[in-house]
Amino acid sequence: MVLLENIHKSFGENEVLRGLDLEIGEGQTMVILGQSGCGKSVLLKLILRLMNQEEGLIVIDDEDTTDFSENQMMRVRKKFGMLFQSSALFDSISVADNVAYMLNEHTDMSRTEIANRVKEMLSFVDLSGVEEMMPADLSGGMKKRVALARALAFKPHYILYDEPTTGLDPLTAKTINELIRNTQERLDVTSIVVTHDLISAFYVGDRLALIQEGVTSFCGTPQEFAASTDPFIVEYLACGREYN
Ligand SMILES: Nc1ncnc2c1ncn2[C@@H]1O[C@H](COP(=O)(O)OP(=O)(O)OP(=O)(O)O)[C@@H](O)[C@H]1O
Ligand SMILES: [Mg+2]
Repeated sequence: MVLLENIHKSFGENEVLRGLDLEIGEGQTMVILGQSGCGKSVLLKLILRLMNQEEGLIVIDDEDTTDFSENQMMRVRKKFGMLFQSSALFDSISVADNVAYMLNEHTDMSRTEIANRVKEMLSFVDLSGVEEMMPADLSGGMKKRVALARALAFKPHYILYDEPTTGLDPLTAKTINELIRNTQERLDVTSIVVTHDLISAFYVGDRLALIQEGVTSFCGTPQEFAASTDPFIVEYLACGREYN
């Protein structure tokens, strides 16, 4: 379980998070919505402590990580797979080496075990046989899938997705949504999905959270979100429908 309590995060005068609370239950997929710049990517970085909050608690599996040392955080980070907003593959190495990266760096698995894991993960994302290709030769959708295979290779307990379907055509986005669902169901992970894509939000989310003015202004099921009479949510949904 991931628990965020009263999180404050500013950059100079820019108060981005202003007392945000959020709880992501075991095995759930939590979707985070909110306008561009509201602090969604910052939130994911705070969970992994790639940056620090000024105030507030972050509890991961009953451990308050707020004052953890870098070494303790390294141990916590190994529980997480992360799909960055840009797929962030390493351009100079092959797909197989990208997927194997964490395994090479942080485990004592043998070369054969790693090669098998890479194969298994590429097959899971329906990309068997691309091991030797270079990231530059892949389409955007393929890159996202390789990035997902890389995030899953370490068998994480949590996966953080930052805009997994942005920039993809509707059919490719659908395959990514299905993969996110399959990942949750088959690999029993707990996921946080940041997205602007309402189709994706409703398809993958067990719960949706909306960030507004630095706090969680709504958190509930997709059905509760769709039924909300809050004027901002009504407009948000209406605009979403116009574009989708
Ligand atoms: N390292 C940083 N230094 C200074 N300001 C930052 C930094 N990272 C983020 N910010 C600011 O924090 C705010 C929130 O940024 P964030 O990237 O979390 O937005 P977001 O909700 O993910 O937006 P988008 O939907 O466009 O990706 C923005 O105003 C951004 O400029
Ligand atoms: Mg972002």
